[in-house]
Amino acid sequence: MAKPEPCLTELLPQEAIASIDHWISKYPPGRQQSAVMAALTIAQDHHGWLTEKLMNGIADYLKMPRIAVYEVASFYSMYHLEPVGKHVISVCTNVSCMLCGSDSVVEHLSKRLGVKLGQTTSDSLITLKEVECLGACGGAPMLEVDKQYHENLTEQKIDEILAGLEK
Ligand code: FES
Repeated sequence: MAKPEPCLTELLPQEAIASIDHWISKYPPGRQQSAVMAALTIAQDHHGWLTEKLMNGIADYLKMPRIAVYEVASFYSMYHLEPVGKHVISVCTNVSCMLCGSDSVVEHLSKRLGVKLGQTTSDSLITLKEVECLGACGGAPMLEVDKQYHENLTEQKIDEILAGLEK
């Protein structure tokens, strides 16, 4: 017989569950599914990335179909569905950024880090990710590092960002 899957309260610490409960309480009774994005974010912040077990645990906790949780997690680039480095650099390559030189940004980062888009450096320090528009088109080309935006990028600025990352 297959082992039962662990429930969310076994996968996350109590403070993470309390944060998810806090988000659930913001919605009317029976609408707990509305907290799915917050729950995914909290789970990822604690674990580093979203395992299938975590997503299943969230689905069961919010009483929603597992496929609906996978759909949300795979739609938004801020969720990581595989292990990532200590830092995640998300480069926007959408229209405004592309017209303002995102190709050169990616090329410079790839050269400096020795990885391609979607890969993590061999020391597990940095994951380089390609993302769609992050809503900062006025500052194109731009990237996000660990939830912080950096705009109007130049090679010098990129080098400064890399130098400032904690090892
Ligand atoms: S196109 Fe890059 S932030 Fe909008």
